[in-house]
Amino acid sequence: MTTSAPPELEVIEMTKRFGSFTALEDVSLRLPPGEFHALLGENGAGKSTLVKCIMGFYHADQGTVMVDQREVEIETPKNAQDHALGMVYQHFTLVDNMTVAENLVMAQSHLPSVIQWKQEIESLHAFMQTMPFQVPLEAYVRDLAAGIKQKAEILKQLYLKNRILILDEPTSVLTPQEADEMLGLIREMTQQKQLSVLMITHKFREVEKFADAVTILRRGKRVGGGRVGELTRDDMASMMIGSETLAQPTHRSGQRQPQPILEVNGLFVDDDNGTPAVKDLSFQLYPGEILGVAGVSGNGQPELVEVLAGQRQPLQGTVKTRSSVYSGRRAEMRNQKFYCLPEEPLRNACVGTMSVAHNMVLRNFDVSPFAWGGWLLNHRAIRRQAEALIQKYRVKTPTPETQIQFLSGGNIQRAVLARELSNEVDILVVANPCFGLDFGAIADIHSQLMTARNNGVAVLLISEDLDEIIELADRVVVMSGGAFNYESTIDQLDLQTVGNRMAGH
Ligand SMILES: Nc1ncnc2c1ncn2[C@@H]1O[C@H](COP(=O)(O)OP(=O)(O)OP(=O)(O)O)[C@@H](O)[C@H]1O
Ligand SMILES: [Mg+2]
Repeated sequence: MTTSAPPELEVIEMTKRFGSFTALEDVSLRLPPGEFHALLGENGAGKSTLVKCIMGFYHADQGTVMVDQREVEIETPKNAQDHALGMVYQHFTLVDNMTVAENLVMAQSHLPSVIQWKQEIESLHAFMQTMPFQVPLEAYVRDLAAGIKQKAEILKQLYLKNRILILDEPTSVLTPQEADEMLGLIREMTQQKQLSVLMITHKFREVEKFADAVTILRRGKRVGGGRVGELTRDDMASMMIGSETLAQPTHRSGQRQPQPILEVNGLFVDDDNGTPAVKDLSFQLYPGEILGVAGVSGNGQPELVEVLAGQRQPLQGTVKTRSSVYSGRRAEMRNQKFYCLPEEPLRNACVGTMSVAHNMVLRNFDVSPFAWGGWLLNHRAIRRQAEALIQKYRVKTPTPETQIQFLSGGNIQRAVLARELSNEVDILVVANPCFGLDFGAIADIHSQLMTARNNGVAVLLISEDLDEIIELADRVVVMSGGAFNYESTIDQLDLQTVGNRMAGH
């Protein structure tokens, strides 16, 4: 199996329902050996559902999976491996506190009860010799940059002898350079018929540059596709959104106010391991401006957001709002009209097992449910407000009562942002607000942020997407090694220097 070509994969008329909601309807797709196939569609279109059905995470209500023209029953993801099918996700699955080598060895499904480490490591090294790219086997996963981690995830699949790789937004956590490098390597392997790839992405650029063929889903149905060269970006976009209209960009208007509303002085913060993450950080944020914080992830951004959101104590330094000391307590945040969209909102800003409606309406998601007595009585009001927000922010959910964890990734993001923006806001901190969103949703959210700014909100936009910062920010800083090492107004921005500073030079 190691050197043989990947098998052909065919999905025939697959349908998946959740209760009365049809997430996938009669979708067919063929992946010939060595093809790089992209799967496009809006948030909630059914992309993840399709691949989860193929991989045995979900069981389709109807439809067939064929591997090399034979019908197969894939009961569980472990089963999928018997047919050389492996999956790589948006978020990493390798264990941080183990080395890459340990992770790869332990991932094998038929491990003996006593592991012969010496032999295993030798065979791993021999395997690596045959790979077009390398990762440091002895390094701890926690010490690897995102791009290398994602390469290690792929190597893990190859080490498990999987030949059909299903990638669900694998580049969201990578910089554009890292993404290009990784996809380029995968593309070479598909061209040499060592691999077939089915990749979910929201990025047209990646489809055009790397994929051979594309399938486009809309509301659970296949609405188009074909060879990549035969479709323009506009063709693909209009298949994705059908007759929906996109939000028009909101133009910048008005100047910032002269007095800062948020002041950070000499801030030092440690991460969970007690390692300094934010080092002597100072800045001011003014009403009516968007301050863009550019930088590669892991340079202290999450720790900064956590301090501002009152979820982490700084070691030293002060945060002031309206010239008074601010410690991020709930009551203070409410008084100061301070709102925050952290990264990974499902983990950091929701209760996954609660309904969309409750998550959208109740800001005090982290207080015990017992405190909600009064609210719960007012069930109808909650539902009404949630329905209004769902419509305004175009959150795709089967019903307002659906548990939020069952929404597609992009729709969780929309729901949390809707909640944070639906209040009267004076200070808004957003971290990678468009992570995993489709282009329509990005247009929506960018327009909302600009409107907030024009209305006098002070916006701190922390983003790994430099294009987003350039589009929205009035002022740009670069965060590297826990501090800002560059600052410029948007009209004087020097991209070359920004790039260097992001890399820590
Ligand atoms: N376990 C589940 N229970 C109920 N509904 C679900 C479940 N899983 C998915 N859905 C619904 O199915 C629809 C399709 O979701 P899916 O995750 O496949 O979307 P997607 O195309 O991957 O979107 P995104 O780009 O945001 O990741 C969504 O409306 C989602 O709410
Ligand atoms: Mg998805």
